[in-house]
Amino acid sequence: MVEIEEIGGELRMERIGAHSHIKGLGLDESGRAKQVADGLVGQTRAREAAGLVVMMAKEGKLSGKAVLLAGPPGTGKTAIAVAMARELGEDVPFIQLSGSEIYSTERKKTEVLMEAMRKAIGVKVRELRKVYEGEVKELDIKMGSSPYNPFVKVPQEAVITLKTTDEEKRIRVGPNVARQLVEFGIAEGDVIMIDAKDGRVSKVGRSTESFSYDLEAEQLVPRPDGQVLKEKEFVYVLTLDDLDRMVARRRSGGGLFSLLFGVEEKEIDPEVRAAVDQQVKEWVEMGRAEIVPGVMFIDDAHLMDIEALSFISRAMESELVPIIVMATNRGITKIRGTEIEAPFGMPLDLLDRLVIITTDKYSKEEIGHILKIRAKEEGVKLSDDALELLMELGTKKSLRYAVQILGIAGVRIRSRGKEEIGREDVEEVARRFSDVREAVDHLRRYEEELLK
Ligand SMILES: Nc1ncnc2c1ncn2[C@@H]1O[C@H](COP(=O)(O)OP(=O)(O)OP(=O)(O)O)[C@@H](O)[C@H]1O
Ligand SMILES: [Mg+2]
Repeated sequence: MVEIEEIGGELRMERIGAHSHIKGLGLDESGRAKQVADGLVGQTRAREAAGLVVMMAKEGKLSGKAVLLAGPPGTGKTAIAVAMARELGEDVPFIQLSGSEIYSTERKKTEVLMEAMRKAIGVKVRELRKVYEGEVKELDIKMGSSPYNPFVKVPQEAVITLKTTDEEKRIRVGPNVARQLVEFGIAEGDVIMIDAKDGRVSKVGRSTESFSYDLEAEQLVPRPDGQVLKEKEFVYVLTLDDLDRMVARRRSGGGLFSLLFGVEEKEIDPEVRAAVDQQVKEWVEMGRAEIVPGVMFIDDAHLMDIEALSFISRAMESELVPIIVMATNRGITKIRGTEIEAPFGMPLDLLDRLVIITTDKYSKEEIGHILKIRAKEEGVKLSDDALELLMELGTKKSLRYAVQILGIAGVRIRSRGKEEIGREDVEEVARRFSDVREAVDHLRRYEEELLK
């Protein structure tokens, strides 16, 4: 369906490669976490808590609150946030950003956050449109001189006979529709749809009733039933940010410069956003749209400064907000932009609104299990002693490091045409890549030398 594809924005899934094995929170009907399920291993208390939060969100009881995942590095904070989004459903947007990403020379911090927030709110729009739909039985296109150039022939009008299982109708269409018929190469036997109002043509496929020479390329569809002229429902899923951009473009449109060079506004006018919100609310009231709140995940939340954090507390109060999930691995630390020390580096008014979930370090067995799941996800085999070494790296350094080394070792064996990752592959890769602590020590040594 060409029309739906043209208008619909796709939902953005970002940077979740390392978490692609996660399908959900892995809870049973009573909300209890199974030791291993949906790609998740252990961390049962946090998963159960996350399950309750998802339930609250579904019942609309999370308003005015945000979730904070607090725990040491590599304990699955990001993994659990991803799982929560998966639990909420397929169409649910998931936006991930790091607390450090709000600092940009080009845009205000609050603008970056606002945009992320609006990307995390989906709007499912239903639209009833009158369309002519049927299998093309006869098609007669009349060509005439172009109004701009008398030597060029262009389609001027067309008479089409459309057939459904119930009726046959002849319609005459003007140059706009006729041109699209030629452009799309519409022929007898195609099933097409023409929007009754704006005349947009889309090819649905090739009718199963007709004979086709080109067997491979065409999608076969049954001859439509019912009347030729009918009301059809279309569903598009967009985000508030998509709508903002559409409205902003329309408003700034007309200017020759923007038309020729397609300049994108860096910042969206608050007025545009207000207009979009108003419009969406009207659609919801009319039953034409449904809001699908997604998850906005802010990793390393302690990197946000007081201004950004206050913005988040305020935003939580508004009606159109996504589920805000933050993660941090800091305990008591300075609130950025102030001299005040506070839990997680967050101001009191925000702390008051947090639902806190803590994550604990994994046992060696759990790390082993997670690594096995990752190996399967990446389609590589692991020898027992390679797994053993990775488990050691996971416990001594961090799980994140071990998962990374596993990924790189997978690339290494593939380039050598080997099937299985051996201990020596892990050793070789681990020798070449440092973990954070080693890298920091390394730089510190150089700094010390410089100061001597
Ligand atoms: N319980 C788990 N089950 C399965 N996989 C997990 C689990 N916990 C973590 N992982 C995987 O291990 C890797 C590291 O975990 P993750 O990035 O979620 O940790 P983190 O707590 O967010 O760390 P950091 O503080 O460094 O951001 C990821 O690939 C993640 O998908
Ligand atoms: Mg993380």
